[in-house]
Amino acid sequence: MDDNRMISATLQQEEANLEGSLRPQTLTEYIGQEKVKKNLQIFIDAARMRGESLDHVLLYGPPGLGKTTLAGIIANEMDSSLKVTSGPAIEKPGEIAAVLNQLSDGDILFIDEIHRLNRQVEEVLYPAMEDFSIDIMIGKGASARSIRLDLPHFTLVGATTRAGMLTAPLRDRFGVVNRLEFYTDRELQVIVLRSAELLNVEIDEEGALEIGKRSRGTPRLANRLLKRVRDFAQVRYGGRIDKDVADLALDLLEVDSLGLDRTDRTLLLTMIDQFHGRPVGLDTLAAAIGEDAGTIEDVYEPFLIQRGLIHRTPRGRVLSEKAYLHLGRKIPHS
Ligand code: ADE
Repeated sequence: MDDNRMISATLQQEEANLEGSLRPQTLTEYIGQEKVKKNLQIFIDAARMRGESLDHVLLYGPPGLGKTTLAGIIANEMDSSLKVTSGPAIEKPGEIAAVLNQLSDGDILFIDEIHRLNRQVEEVLYPAMEDFSIDIMIGKGASARSIRLDLPHFTLVGATTRAGMLTAPLRDRFGVVNRLEFYTDRELQVIVLRSAELLNVEIDEEGALEIGKRSRGTPRLANRLLKRVRDFAQVRYGGRIDKDVADLALDLLEVDSLGLDRTDRTLLLTMIDQFHGRPVGLDTLAAAIGEDAGTIEDVYEPFLIQRGLIHRTPRGRVLSEKAYLHLGRKIPHS
């Protein structure tokens, strides 16, 4: 078994890139998600006062909103070490057993995409989460027996883009369940200003707000766009970002005034041109634009729904009037 495939000792190893260096390390530094922060602060303080490990935490919501960052902050605030793995990386019960067995008291185990764990692996997690023990089968056939192995008191932080895809027994074993929301334009402005300072990029308030506005409510995207706009500013405008530079650069990147990218617009235009505004099923839409249905559901659709551009109905997805107006198309009569 290759340990490196399943677990990486630190976040830096897993994402030894810019995103890692911009991650806040404490709840105080973390911008936005006020409800989640307030919740976590209380549970962290209480666990620390009792000298206990923190209850298991489930974080869910669209990608790029800070689930991994929060796992790092929890580890930091609890003075414990963080082990990172993901649902798809763990294929067999023996592999999760090995990961659990290597933990120490108080460790935070972060499992990203936890909805993708298979059933047998999940079943190892149930007693591990509930009683800090696992049952291991020894021997084969008639002489096979199961022995119980005690585990350290660890905290599982699970992250998923789809809480609805977790099985009930797994979901029920998390004591703390938090949903991450899209960030406001103002919150993203503050995040962009903070990142710009860390990256030594010269930017004004309006420039940061423009990048924030076009980042689909998502810090990961805001930081990515900041980098791209910085390149543009460096080559053409002496490195300084203001609203005009941000506008020009973002237009060039085909990110529109609502933050929609080419795929978002293709999706909306396909609903108009191929389906004439009638309700469309997810799989039909996915086939029409050549995109994976799961990606549409996890990545594209949540933002389009949140911004009121599409609605879900029992008969399928439909466009809102706002979407027609935004795209400059005529609203159909019916
Ligand atoms: N970088 C990415 N997400 C962030 C957040 N929520 N607060 C501060 N910096 C961030």
